[in-house]
Amino acid sequence: MIKVLVTGAAGQVGRDLVDVLLGYTPPGGSETWHPDGRAVHSDEFAVVGLTHHDLDVTDEAAVHRAIRAVQPDVIVHLAAYTAVDQAESDSERCFAVNERGTGYLSDAADSTGAHLVTVSTDYVFDGAGNRPYSESDTTNPLGVYGRSKLAGELRCRPRDTIVRTSWVMGIRGRNVLHVIAQRVAAGEPVRFVNDQIGTPTFSADLARGLATFVRERPSGVWHFANQPATSWYEVAVAAAEACGATRDFVTPITSGELTPAPAARRPSYSALSTEKWVAAGFREPLEWRDGLARFFRDRS
Ligand SMILES: NC(=O)c1ccc[n+]([C@@H]2O[C@H](COP(=O)([O-])OP(=O)(O)OC[C@H]3O[C@@H](n4cnc5c(N)ncnc54)[C@H](OP(=O)(O)O)[C@@H]3O)[C@@H](O)[C@H]2O)c1
Repeated sequence: MIKVLVTGAAGQVGRDLVDVLLGYTPPGGSETWHPDGRAVHSDEFAVVGLTHHDLDVTDEAAVHRAIRAVQPDVIVHLAAYTAVDQAESDSERCFAVNERGTGYLSDAADSTGAHLVTVSTDYVFDGAGNRPYSESDTTNPLGVYGRSKLAGELRCRPRDTIVRTSWVMGIRGRNVLHVIAQRVAAGEPVRFVNDQIGTPTFSADLARGLATFVRERPSGVWHFANQPATSWYEVAVAAAEACGATRDFVTPITSGELTPAPAARRPSYSALSTEKWVAAGFREPLEWRDGLARFFRDRS
């Protein structure tokens, strides 16, 4: 059995990953999409999921104690400060979690011989590109959150696995799809930006991708996201339609029209290319529309 320690296990991705590693399909997940063609069996992994309550990753000594006590083969580090706008006025805490916490996990993995898989973000890019970003493209984060996540990447060792993903949505997470469903139910139309383009990713699919990274343990940076690139406006329209509304329930706006203006700047284009993943022999991530249909199939 491969022993896997998961940090941030009560978060959006953490819950789905624990399900996948235990051999279950998380809510909103695909029964048939397995990136390396093999389903996870219930006796393949022994999973220790640590929540924020169990382990504060900003406590260096506690991180080392936890890793020494569990002696995992692989650590999947999902604990993170993810409040992108709040981070602008809470930089110290954001960096403590995302930079230093990630560094402590890499140190602890190194000292015990465990392999670290850590998750990063499309917000390490500035959005000036016009084609999906590859792993070797130049980073230039626009805000505190993106800078802290990039700083976390840089605290990792070359042998660690860094998985960048984007626009993550899961049934057990806080995300816009739940908001849209509530607004449709209340008959309250919504406005969404059509000038931010990215690759929406369903946490149940990401969890299957992470299980493959746990099996294969490739080093370096990897991009994983559902495909193809789209705007938040198109995601909102698809969600509203899935809830029984029509396209005109969603009004397209520009980022400049958002009220109140968000504290953090976001890249206007941050789609992630999965070419490296596919070239390595793994199955192309499913289309985001497929993930969205599964989200609303299982949400109720
Ligand atoms: N959500 C996205 O759109 C997105 C996009 C790209 C990349 N990512 C990355 O994907 C990973 C998983 O994100 P997610 O969507 O699952 O986020 P999430 O739902 O916010 O989960 C993060 C978890 O980390 C915990 N946490 C926060 N500070 C901690 C600390 N000091 N010590 C231990 N645990 C702590 C949180 O617990 P509390 O809630 O109790 O604080 C929460 O359970 C993160 O690395 C994130 O940066 C997310």
